[in-house]
Amino acid sequence: MNSRRNFLKQLSGAALAAGTAPSILTWALPQGESVEFPGEDGMILRSFRFVDLETPVEYFSTWLTPVPHFFVRNHMHEPAQLDAPDWRLSIGGEVEKPFTLSLAELSKLETHSVVNTLECAGNGRSLHRPQVPGVQWGKGAVSTARFSGPSLRDVLQRAGVKPTGKHVMFRGLDEVPGKVPPFIRSIPIEKGLDTDTLIATHMNGSPLTKHHGFPARALAPGWIGAASCKWLTEIKVLDAEFVGNFMSPAYRWPNQPVKPGDAVKPEDTHALTALSVKSVISEPSDGASVNSGKVIVHGTAWAGEADITKVEISTDSGATWNPAKLGHDQAHYAWRLWSYDWKAHKPGDYTILSRATDSQGRTQPSTPAWNPSGYLYNAVDQVKIHVS
Ligand code: MTE
Repeated sequence: MNSRRNFLKQLSGAALAAGTAPSILTWALPQGESVEFPGEDGMILRSFRFVDLETPVEYFSTWLTPVPHFFVRNHMHEPAQLDAPDWRLSIGGEVEKPFTLSLAELSKLETHSVVNTLECAGNGRSLHRPQVPGVQWGKGAVSTARFSGPSLRDVLQRAGVKPTGKHVMFRGLDEVPGKVPPFIRSIPIEKGLDTDTLIATHMNGSPLTKHHGFPARALAPGWIGAASCKWLTEIKVLDAEFVGNFMSPAYRWPNQPVKPGDAVKPEDTHALTALSVKSVISEPSDGASVNSGKVIVHGTAWAGEADITKVEISTDSGATWNPAKLGHDQAHYAWRLWSYDWKAHKPGDYTILSRATDSQGRTQPSTPAWNPSGYLYNAVDQVKIHVS
C-alpha cells in the first residue's frame, strides 16, 4: 500500500476514533478545519477518500501559486502506478491518422506556455443557500500556475481531424473504485483547436506532480477545472458531446434561472464551459481584528476567458464603492491580484466587500445564481472585521 493510502487510512482511523461519522469523512471536514497533508503545508483537507485539498485564501498573495499550495480536486483515486517510460497517449476517433505518443515523443513537440487560473466549478459551494450536497468547498478551490506543454491543436492537426469531428474527449488514468463511472469528458472542437489549449506536462516550470496529473493533463484555459483532464491517456475526436456521468448530470448549468431549492430537469441544462467573473478578499481575514489607521485590503479577481477591468471595494457594507489598484502581473486567462488602501479611522465593526467587473461587461452579483449542484458561486465577496 502506498504512503498516501496509509496516511489517509490513519487519518480516517483517527477521525473515527474521535467519533466522526464515516459518511462525513467521504465529503468534508467541519468548515474551515485544516489538516496537514504531507508536502502540501497548511492546505485544507476537504475529502479523505479521494484527495481534495483547498487553498486557504491567505495564500492568494502571489500571482503564481506555488505547486504545494495549488488546490487539488480528485473524483477518485489517483493512479497508483504511473511509470513515465510505460505511459502512452493515444489520439484517435474522427481523425485520418490515429497515432500514439510516448512521453519522450510528446516532449519533442513545440512547447507553449499559458498562465491560467484553474477554478473548480464547485468552488464556493458551501456558501450557496439553501445548501447543496457535494464537496463543501470554501473560497479556495482556485489557483494559478504557468502550464506548459504541446498545444492540443498541433497533435490534432497531425492526426487530421475529419469534418465529422465535433468534440474532443479526454480520458484519465484514475483508479476507478467500484461502480463509479470513469472520469471522461469532452470539449467542443473549437476549444480543442484553440492554440492555448494544451497537453500540459509542466506547472511553474517543473514536471507535473502526481496530484496535478503527471505526466500530462489537458488544459482548457479559462474553463471550469473539470475540462482539464489529469493523467491523460486517451484523446478521442467524437462527432458529438461525450455522453457520460461527468458530462451529464454532472457539470451542467440550468438554461433558465432557478428558484433556490428547486429541481431542474437534465434536458433543461447545458454543459458548463467558461468561468464567471469573481473576486475574493485574501486579507484581512474574516473575523480579524486590526488597528485603526491604514489597512491594506488584498485580494484577487478572475473572469475565465475574459479580462478583469475593475475591482471595487466597499468598507461600509455596500453603501459606497472605491476602485482597487490592480497588480502588474497579468495574462489572458490569469487572475489579477489587487489591493486597496483603506484609512480606517473609526474603531468599530465593518463589512468589507469586493466586486469585480470584466471585459464582457459582467459584474459580480450580490446574490449568486443558485443551482442544484452549487456550481459557479460568484457573489460579491465579503469579510467582517473589527477595527480597534
Ligand atoms: N482529471 C481526472 N482524470 N480526474 C479528476 O478527478 N478532476 C477535475 C480536473 N481533472 C479530475 C480531473 C476537476 S473537477 C478539477 S477542478 C481539476 O482537475 C482540478 O485540478 P487540480 O487537482 O490540478 O487542481
